[in-house]
Amino acid sequence: MSEAVAQAVAERFTRLYGAGPEGVWAAPGRVNLIGEHTDYNDGFVMPFALPHTAVAAVSRRTDGLLRLHSANIGDDAAGAGGVTELRVADLAPETDRGWTAYPAGVVWALREAGHEITGADIHLASTVPAGAGLSSSAALEVVVALALNDLYGLGLRGWQLARLCQRAENVYVGAPVGIMDQTAAACCEAGHALFLDTRDLSQRQIPFDLAAEGMRLLVVDTQVKHAHSEGEYGKRRAGCEKGAALLGVDALRDVPYDGLEAALERLGDDEEVRRLVRHVVTEDERVERVVSLLESGRTREIGPVLTEGHVSLRDDFRISCPELDLVVDTALAEGALGARMTGGGFGGSAIVLARAADVETLTKAVQEAFARAGFTAPRVFEAVPSAGARRLV
Ligand code: GLA
Repeated sequence: MSEAVAQAVAERFTRLYGAGPEGVWAAPGRVNLIGEHTDYNDGFVMPFALPHTAVAAVSRRTDGLLRLHSANIGDDAAGAGGVTELRVADLAPETDRGWTAYPAGVVWALREAGHEITGADIHLASTVPAGAGLSSSAALEVVVALALNDLYGLGLRGWQLARLCQRAENVYVGAPVGIMDQTAAACCEAGHALFLDTRDLSQRQIPFDLAAEGMRLLVVDTQVKHAHSEGEYGKRRAGCEKGAALLGVDALRDVPYDGLEAALERLGDDEEVRRLVRHVVTEDERVERVVSLLESGRTREIGPVLTEGHVSLRDDFRISCPELDLVVDTALAEGALGARMTGGGFGGSAIVLARAADVETLTKAVQEAFARAGFTAPRVFEAVPSAGARRLV
């Protein structure tokens, strides 16, 4: 499968730029199993990679030009042939609001970190749904970072590429995201979920094979679009930082679960901050609980923990929306083992853990509930833990 994709992307590159690429790379989107809005609090997360990927065909240039093309954006969207041409020396933060900011931001971040990138021709094609909370932007960033790392012989490790990509997104694009999505794209392994400590980026691959246990994980893309750079994400992040400052800790990760009640008391009547703190501290504990359940073979029991996570995101962190709640409520009413929103929130996708035998009924129930509510039909697919970023050709 990926060979055919790589070949098609390489052929398109050849038609665009007049010669074949030096290589073709892929980086996946992700779903987060548990650990939401904990990454910028130095906490724990547990994403796994989707089979959907951003694929990049890339060649180096020596004349300082960066040429970018995406198969996902109409060919005439960016002028002649759809190719955007930039000078690497001129790249500057927050000057670009389009998709090109992601690959260009990576080149900028690499150069900022002292790596001499003298230009590149890049053609991208992605199957990661955009705006669905499945990290389509991190996939774009990481695939470009990995390609340039290989071609320019930079010798950077996955977690280092993730840090550079996060910097590209924080500073160049201007979105205050954490480190989860880029690390997931760079470091996930097929058949595993990635248990990541976002403080020091230490990681453990946790075997996660639902099919072997008669279960499935469904992703329900509500088709409600979200945008992190626009406000609410940043407000939550600022609120968490305020909570940490009031409690005199570096990050909310430092508030122990068994010290939560005392911490909430110290926050007095700042209800907004109390709710944010309660979510983050309980969410870190939920990640640890899911890890120990999976490691002791009690996979089915993670369901209720996922659902608890949703309730916390809905009621304490307040980033759900009617469509996400409808997926969760309908799935649970139809016998799902657990369900929650995944990703940044305010739309995007939910995940549903279900017995294999219930998948069809559940899918139908969610689709019917959406139709009854007058919502846009959701996109439902099964998520199998897939490979992280890699070279295809
Ligand atoms: C987005 C961000 C991540 C993380 C999640 C919420 O996906 O990119 O860094 O904060 O939201 O868990």
